[in-house]
This record gives sequence, structure tokens and C-alpha cells, in this order.
Amino acid sequence: MKILVTGGAGFIGSNFIIYMLGKYPDYQIVNLDKLTYAGNLENLKSVENNPNYKFIKGDICDREIVKIAMTDCDSVVHFAAESHVDRSISEPEAFIKTNVLGTLILLEVAKELGIKRFHHISTDEVFGTLPLQNLKDKFNENTPYSPRSPYSASKAGSDHLVRAFIETYNFPATISNCTNNYGPLQFPEKIIPLFITNALQDKNLPIYGTGTAIRDYLYVTDHCKAIDLILHKGKIGETYCLGGDAEKNGIEIADTILEILDKNKNLKTFVGDRKGHDMRYAMDFSKITRDLGWQPTVNFEEGINKTIAWYKENENWWKK
Ligand SMILES: NC(=O)c1ccc[n+]([C@@H]2O[C@H](COP(=O)([O-])OP(=O)(O)OC[C@H]3O[C@@H](n4cnc5c(N)ncnc54)[C@H](O)[C@@H]3O)[C@@H](O)[C@H]2O)c1
Repeated sequence: MKILVTGGAGFIGSNFIIYMLGKYPDYQIVNLDKLTYAGNLENLKSVENNPNYKFIKGDICDREIVKIAMTDCDSVVHFAAESHVDRSISEPEAFIKTNVLGTLILLEVAKELGIKRFHHISTDEVFGTLPLQNLKDKFNENTPYSPRSPYSASKAGSDHLVRAFIETYNFPATISNCTNNYGPLQFPEKIIPLFITNALQDKNLPIYGTGTAIRDYLYVTDHCKAIDLILHKGKIGETYCLGGDAEKNGIEIADTILEILDKNKNLKTFVGDRKGHDMRYAMDFSKITRDLGWQPTVNFEEGINKTIAWYKENENWWKK
């Protein structure tokens, strides 16, 4: 199988490429990435000389380069995106270009070239926010879309385009919506790597608002395993929700990291809340468990310890 991975120099994409090349030594992977601030070829050092891996620098909004990258591929796994909510609040335009227009161009070229499988990576954030009052509520595949940030609106737009291609053109796509990922190789602007790297430098850990907003955390290799399963066994036209079964608020994340690193709890600092901050995301992932046998295997305690160990050992990576 030859797979085009978009955004493969980013956090989840690079973990996915390393995972797939390790698991399937005869698969070929083409990585198309624009190398924005979030893309880093160092993430792929371990595979850069693998004859089955090829990197192409390019923008998914550039139809010609997309055609070149996608030619002869059987499948596409689409990660490329502007991915940070805070940046979308200050500068939304790039999010619309890459996440909406870029996805449309990929879909059009994939349809033209007769790609057999297109897997689109999306987020729980498209479903909006859950209240903090009833912690039993969770999102699932039937939850109506209700995005509330420019980031989630752009991801919702891309999901709708994929769904529209499935319905209109019988296009062979699948979608997964997952909760917050964490693990090695995550750019230190997202909460977990930011808090770890700040704590390692005895800098403050900035917690939004009251620190009570809840996210669910999925260890990145569990996410890679789910994508692998969907790509091979997922039913065309279906959406799969993924979660880590590890709901934590900002204070809990900070306290856990400070505790493991044996740092002063006073490093926690409360800062002004994010505009339009969603209070809780949580995912019911029973459909993929039932249909494909997937469930997260790394619990939060194990995952956060592994992640902290990686950032401790890879100071050169994050200091750059
Ligand atoms: N990180 C999470 O917690 C999380 C959770 C749910 C869903 N997702 C989704 O997973 C995907 C990957 O997320 P991530 O955290 O790895 O993101 P990331 O920001 O770490 O990486 C994104 C990658 O896409 C590349 N890219 C950006 N614009 C591009 C363009 N126009 N053309 C080609 N490449 C481009 C960047 O250079 C980078 O390598 C995204 O679609 C994101 O919405 C992420």
C-alpha cells in the first residue's frame, strides 16, 4: 500500500508515519507538508533514510503539488491543518485556507485520481462544549455540530466537505474525531508540552480562567492505532469518535506534571480565560470499540510519565 500522509511533519502525523513504517515494512509513505512553525523534519529523523519514505515540501492548497504527491497512492491520511485554537482566535484566515480550502483541494484531486481510501482526521471540538454540571454527558457520532472557535469552525467545515463528497460522489472516505492528543513530538504551545517544558525551566504554568475547563486526553500512539484500524477495516462513509477515557482539568494537569517533576506547586499561575472557552469535551468511543475492537491502551498515568520522560530527554528538540 502507498499512502499519502498530509501534515506528516507535525505532532500526530510524524508519530503516525513512524508507527506505520515500523508496523508495515512493505508500505510506502509520501509525506506532504508545508513545514509551518508546527512542522519539524527532525521528528522524522529515524525514518528519513527509509527507502519506503518520501518527503515532499508543499502546501495542500497547491493543486499541482497535491497531484504530484498523490499520484500512484492508494490511500490518503489527512492530518495537515492549522491546529492551535489560540492562534485561530488572533489570526483565523490561515485556518480557513488550510483547513477548509486545503481539504477541498485534496478531496478534488483524490476523486480525480480515483484514490481508494481517504481518511480525514478531525477533532471533538467540532461538537462545541459540554456543561460542567452533568459529567455523564459525552459527545458521540450523532452529536450535532456546534463549533465555537475559528479553529473548530474550520475543522467542522472540512468535516462537512468530506461528508458532502461521500454523499454526492460516493467518495470512499472515513472521518475520525478525537480528543486532545499528548505524547512525544508535540509542539510546546499546547497545554501538556507547554506545562512540562515550563516546569522543567521553573517557569510559571499559565492556567486559563479558573482552571476548571475539562479536556479528555488520548495518548498519541493509541490514536495512531485507531487510524491504522480505520484505514484497513473502517467502513467507508463512517465517522468514528475516539477518546482516551482520561478527563482532566487545567489544575489537575498542572498539579500532575509538577508532582512528577518534583517542582513547586506555586508555579501554577492563573491567567485571563481564553475567549469563548469551551468548558468540557468528552467522548463516547463505544462505536469503534464495538465495530473495530479499538480502545485506548495507555492510561493517563503511564502516558504522562512517558511524555515527561521524553521531554526531559529531548531538551534540544523543544529548546529550538
Ligand atoms: N493535537 C491534538 O490534540 C488534536 C486533537 C484532535 C484532532 N487533531 C487534528 O489532528 C491533525 C494533526 O494535528 P497535530 O496536533 O499533529 O498538528 P500540528 O500543528 O502539530 O501539525 C500540523 C502539520 O500540518 C502542516 N501544515 C499546516 N498547514 C499546511 C498546509 N497548508 N499544507 C501542508 N501542510 C500543512 C504543518 O507544517 C504541520 O507539520 C489536525 O488535523 C488536527 O486538527 C489534533
